[in-house]
Amino acid sequence: MKNRIVFLLLILLLSVSCKLNTFKWISSPDHDIRVKVNVSKGGAPYYIVKYQKHTVIDTSYLGFEFTSDTKAFSGFEIMKRSFTLQRDGDWEMPWGEQRYVEDNFNGMIVYFREIESPYRNIQLEFKIYNDGLGFRYILPKQEGLNDLVILDEKTEFNLKADHEVWWIPGDWDIYEHLYSHTKLSEINAIDFQVLSGLAQTYIPYNAVNTPLTMKTKRGHYLSFHEANLTNYPGMTLKVDTLNLKLTSELVGNSQDIKAVIKTPFKTPWRTIQLADRAGDLIESTMILNLNPPAIIDVSWFKPTKYMGIWWDMHIGTKSWDYASGRHGATTEYAKEYIDFCAKNGIGALLVEGWNTGWEHWFGDFNREGVFDFVTPYPDYDLKEVVTYAKSKGVEIIMHHETSAAPRTYAEQMDTAYALMNDLGISVVKTGYVGKIIPKGEYHHGQWMVNQYRLAITKAAKANIAINAHEPIKDTGIRRTYPNAISREGLRGQEFNAWSPDGGNPPHHLPTVAFTRMLAGPIDFTPGIFDIKLNPYKPNNQINTTLAHQLALYVVIYSPIQMAPDLIKNYDGHPAFQFIRDVAVDWDKTHIIDGEVGEFVTIIRKERDSNNWFLGSITNEEPRRINIQCDFLDKYKKYTAIIYSDGKNAHWSNNPTEYEIDTVDVFHRSDISLNLAPGGGCAISFVLWDK
Ligand code: NOJ
Ligand code: CA
Repeated sequence: MKNRIVFLLLILLLSVSCKLNTFKWISSPDHDIRVKVNVSKGGAPYYIVKYQKHTVIDTSYLGFEFTSDTKAFSGFEIMKRSFTLQRDGDWEMPWGEQRYVEDNFNGMIVYFREIESPYRNIQLEFKIYNDGLGFRYILPKQEGLNDLVILDEKTEFNLKADHEVWWIPGDWDIYEHLYSHTKLSEINAIDFQVLSGLAQTYIPYNAVNTPLTMKTKRGHYLSFHEANLTNYPGMTLKVDTLNLKLTSELVGNSQDIKAVIKTPFKTPWRTIQLADRAGDLIESTMILNLNPPAIIDVSWFKPTKYMGIWWDMHIGTKSWDYASGRHGATTEYAKEYIDFCAKNGIGALLVEGWNTGWEHWFGDFNREGVFDFVTPYPDYDLKEVVTYAKSKGVEIIMHHETSAAPRTYAEQMDTAYALMNDLGISVVKTGYVGKIIPKGEYHHGQWMVNQYRLAITKAAKANIAINAHEPIKDTGIRRTYPNAISREGLRGQEFNAWSPDGGNPPHHLPTVAFTRMLAGPIDFTPGIFDIKLNPYKPNNQINTTLAHQLALYVVIYSPIQMAPDLIKNYDGHPAFQFIRDVAVDWDKTHIIDGEVGEFVTIIRKERDSNNWFLGSITNEEPRRINIQCDFLDKYKKYTAIIYSDGKNAHWSNNPTEYEIDTVDVFHRSDISLNLAPGGGCAISFVLWDK
């Protein structure tokens, strides 16, 4: 049994001078957020956060739990504090929700040293932005602090109030859960009901995953997450429902080890977003700002819409498996899709089930070596499909389902990416369905964080972009590696096809917009028009209206957006025009209004064009929304093509009733619309005389 030594970073006050005291507080550039970093009388370091003069995080201690072979700290003193005031610098996103990002913060590093021999050093770095704060531990290289085995990190978030919380359980293996909405004191992740037939799930503690969003009684919004998760486990937050406190609980493995690190080392940033409006959480760029600037050029990647030989498999009309007699990935079917993409200006096609091995992809722990990522089934001529696609101006998106056997994937990566280079394919969708091999590792632990990163770095070298399913959570790494273009990491559209619990309820995406989406792009795959899935799936349907599906192209951000439904459901459908028109890369994004779990209305301006697009979605409640068009260029005329719910539309009994209206608008125009229960609205604003 490992001898656990709990040691919080014990610190002695170096000075009680007034001058030093004043420096204990650091504020955001607009002074709304104030943070104090200090030590208790007992010698433990803590921080406090105030937002608009109200304490939102009360005394919260910071520290680690190490194995006994690392000498315990006997306590620290503060040697100095260094400040970076009003660091200001814009940067440009190669693709994204907006073109320019403002990076403006006040920073502080607090340097601690042990008061007794061996006088080891440790630092805490804070950055305070107008939209929140981030802090991280820095462990410099030094004698007695080289190789460390971390049993846990003990970072506290002491909330002291029973906020409303939107949470998913702190599952070590999957984020594909429905959000619960409870008081902090009522969180019970242990008894969380997993009714969705997932291939993997492991919830060892009463802990929640991040981004974790809350609303206070005063109407402030908080969201907890992390930035730049590198060579370290994902962080869940253990909930103390009595004392209303969260404490970091890192994802581990069956050996009870959370992280093995070498100094010098910087942990990921622990982040707290703070906002007056729920929509400001979405507009925040802090998570990205806390990641290092891009180290690769991705001018070869162009945001795109794509179709797929994909939904067929989820509704059961086709299979990934060649032997099934319903194989989807055939040369012929791919060409049909390529033709349809080309005809409709859809830039790419994903083909799943093209490679051998799908007979064995599910099941216990014999999944290593099942896929080689280069051998097509006999009815799929990979080269011919790619050549045909290119001749029509369509890109093929590669698919690598690893079946959660990442050692096999790591062995095959060079060959697999070389094949993609040979074929001129630059985007791959990866998948990690199932329990991780080797047994005892989990999707969100340090070992897997490094496996996901290996794929991104290797792909970066080969000019390949990755859209990961069953991924590690996004922590803004797309800033440094903009080839990490999108990921799943939530209950996506697929659940509506087969989940035994009936799929995602109407309030799912109005919740996701304020929770999961704060982390980064989402490959949700919106846009199913055959809402009732009849006759394929009698017990499932899409639990939204058709107009809600259209709105998702604007609401849920991703630089690759799928049009997943079958050709026959789009062909000739008037509403498909919106999917054809909607942009995928943005100059500006603004959240007009929204409430977590209730509704959200977002407008985005297309890059390199004057067109704007609006998406608005609601939960089970119908509502009337009023849009002031003051975002449009002054004194210019636009045509607004409005796709809205029909008068009697309803997500459950009348989901496909919709209307298309065309009106001329300018910046002083108002548009009022009714959203049906589970409904939505999508608008294209097209400038006259471009
Ligand atoms: C799960 C992914 O989320 C889904 O999109 C994919 O079709 C299957 N895995 C097979 O790889
Ligand atoms: Ca999935």
